[in-house]
Order: sequence, then C-alpha cells, then structure tokens
Amino acid sequence: MSTEKRLEGKVAIVTGGARGIGKAICSRLAAEGASLAIVDIMLDVAQATADEFKAAGVNARAYAANVAKPEDADKTVADVIADFGKVDILVNNAGITKDTLMLKMTEDMWDAVIAVNLKGTFNFTKAVVRPMMKQRAGKIVNIASVVGRMGNVGQANYSASKAGVIALAKTTAKEFATRNIQVNAVAPGFIETDMTAKLPQEARDAFLTVIPAKRGGKPEDVASVVYFLCSPDSDYVTGQVINVDGGMLM
Ligand code: NAI
Repeated sequence: MSTEKRLEGKVAIVTGGARGIGKAICSRLAAEGASLAIVDIMLDVAQATADEFKAAGVNARAYAANVAKPEDADKTVADVIADFGKVDILVNNAGITKDTLMLKMTEDMWDAVIAVNLKGTFNFTKAVVRPMMKQRAGKIVNIASVVGRMGNVGQANYSASKAGVIALAKTTAKEFATRNIQVNAVAPGFIETDMTAKLPQEARDAFLTVIPAKRGGKPEDVASVVYFLCSPDSDYVTGQVINVDGGMLM
C-alpha cells in the first residue's frame, strides 16, 4: 500500500483558518502534505495556530485579512504567491452569524453577514482564479451550511449568504471547468465549535431532534470531506454540494 501524501507540494489558502472548522481543515490538508496559508481577521490567533503547525514540521504562515475587503484578498493572494510560489487550493471557510428573526433584523446585521460570508468568498475566489488558470489547475471549496439549502428561523442573512456561496461554487465550476479548476461546496449541519457553543441549550436540543445520528459533528468530519474535494480523487467532481450533517438533510 502506498504511504504517499496526496497533497505533497501543494499550497493551500484557508480563510478563517485560525480556529474551529478552518483549523481542522488546515490540520487535515497539512497531514496530507500541503503547505498552509492561514488567513484570518484575528492575526494573533492565526499566528498561534501557524506556530503550532510549524512546531509539528508543517510549512505554515499566518496572514491578517478581512475577507470582506477585496483589497485584502488581492494583497493576501499576492503575498502567498510571493512566499510560497503559487496557490493550488482555496478553502473559503471564514464565516459569521448575526441571528435574529426577520422582523428584528437590521440592515447592518444583513450587510455584515453578506459581506463576510458571500462577498468574502467572491473576493478570494476572484483573487485566486487568475493564477490557477495560468497553472491550469486548482481546487476551490466553499464552506456553506445545510441552512443554505433548507432555510432556518432566525437566520435570514446567514442562510441567504450560504445559498449564495453554493450558487457561486456552481457558477465558478462552470466558468472554469475547462481550465481544470474544480469548485465545490460543503454544507455542514450542526458541528461543535465556538460558533455553535454560543447557541442556547434549547436551540442545541432542537437541532439534535432533527439529526438522525443524534449527535453533533466534529470539525474533523467536515475536514475529511474538504480534503477529498482538494485531492486528485475528486478531479472529475465539480459544482457539487456535499452535506456533512449526520443525515439532517437528505
Ligand atoms: P468559528 O467562529 O469558530 O471560526 C470562524 C473563523 O473565521 C474565526 O477564526 C474568525 O476569526 C474567522 N473570521 C470571521 N470573520 C472573518 C473575516 N471577516 N475575515 C477573515 N476571517 C474571519 O466558526 P466555525 O464554526 O469554525 O465555522 C467555520 C465555517 O463553517 C463558517 O463559514 C460557518 O458558517 C460554517 N459552518 C459552521 C457550522 C457549525 O455548526 N459550526 C455549520 C455550518 C457551517
């Protein structure tokens, strides 16, 4: 059996990679041999995460960026190419929530979530596709959510943003298929992270009643599907959405 690392020599950008699901994705891609560009708005946390990976022998660097700003995306991708020579993989993982019922949702709450989750994904995708086109290879994975497919009370902004990143993955997949760039989305269900730790107990219980597996997922459960979509095993898979949700949405 081969012990070859499938992502040896690849350079991966993971937005929101400092903690949570993004950090687990970094860990999995690095275990398969990838070098890591860990992009986050919290530079100190991203730096600590990069240091952890470096101590384990991984080629990793932290980059401060607000994904909502196109100029941050352009500068980060230029810096990554200057530091590592190229970019092979982009995981659009940075995301936020500002939940409330539609009637109470302010314009600011709407704009903030759309700016980070949807525009941030557009900004980084736009920044990487040109270099990926030139090298005639690339993998892009957008982290969506099951609520982007089914809606959720109190998440008008968030669910719309996640439906948006699914549509963006499909469109980008079509536009760049002949350039050998595959673009897919992963839709996690209820995953145990800092984001979901904020939820009240009733909301957590409500989730569990609709999950056939009767438990939340781990960040590593999402990371292994992301790894598949970044590996050569998925070279003929593009424009797809894969749920990682314990069977919540079928
Ligand atoms: P988290 O809050 O633990 O981590 C998100 C990371 O993104 C943080 O490091 C944060 O600093 C960074 N970030 C936030 N805004 C940013 C910005 N403007 N620019 C750059 N970085 C920024 O969240 P978690 O749970 O790890 O979520 C990761 C992704 O997975 C998000 O897109 C989220 O919507 C999605 N997701 C999470 C689920 C869950 O159950 N935890 C379920 C479905 C989707």
